[in-house]
Amino acid sequence: MRPTTLRPLLAILLLSACASDPKPPRDFDELPPTEAEAGQKAREQARPRPDQPEAALAHTRRGPGHRAGPQGPPGAAMAAGGPVAAVTACNTQAPGVGDAVLEGTGVRVGRSSLRLRNPRNAEAPDWVRSWLTEQGERPAEGVTGIEAIEDLEGGKVARVLIPIAMEPQCLTCHGAKEGIAPEVAARIAELYPEDQATGYETGALRGALWAEYALPAPAPAGG
Ligand code: HEC
Repeated sequence: MRPTTLRPLLAILLLSACASDPKPPRDFDELPPTEAEAGQKAREQARPRPDQPEAALAHTRRGPGHRAGPQGPPGAAMAAGGPVAAVTACNTQAPGVGDAVLEGTGVRVGRSSLRLRNPRNAEAPDWVRSWLTEQGERPAEGVTGIEAIEDLEGGKVARVLIPIAMEPQCLTCHGAKEGIAPEVAARIAELYPEDQATGYETGALRGALWAEYALPAPAPAGG
């Protein structure tokens, strides 16, 4: 657990709580610019090896980092088209980002919460769901994330979890129902008939951003 290293990332993430870019994420710094196919191979080779747990953690931490961006919705979409357009942007873009990150980096990422807007976000690993249940509904202050290498039966897995806090600008879509503009509420209801993600106050723990990376199996001895 290293809350100090998580803090800058958290700040970036909060700027763009909805995923920003459906395109595959940019390569890691050390990768040479290559054609698509060679690029994928280089990305795979650059992934941390089983004997590099620290590198694996850094790699995993950057998985969620790819989800943030200075022009990310809802900010950019809000500025361009208002909150209704931003809801639509989140709806169409958020789901694709996890796949793009996984393909580019081998890191599985997602967002989850005890009260979901998109029921698909329930597909979080057990360790994330138990963390959410343990925290319950509470202020985000004082909550620490997770950063760990787990030695599981199938091999080593790097896990990172970053708590997501409610900010004032989130209220437009996640605040008290009576405070949400009717046209925004209508769009949310249309896209998410089972929405549970309203009624949050600024500072509340809204959920978690998680990332998981399975370190490749060690090469057989003598090879
Ligand atoms: C313009 C409306 C809008 C704003 C503003 C907004 N969100 Fe969301 N949020 C959404 C929508 C729509 C989804 C569902 C996205 C999807 O389909 O995965 C969502 C999903 C989420 C999720 C994923 C879990 C779930 O419920 O499905 C989290 C966590 C979240 N928002 C947190 C925030 C935080 C924190 C802020 C402020 C920094 C924020 N949101 C601002 C519309 C918004």
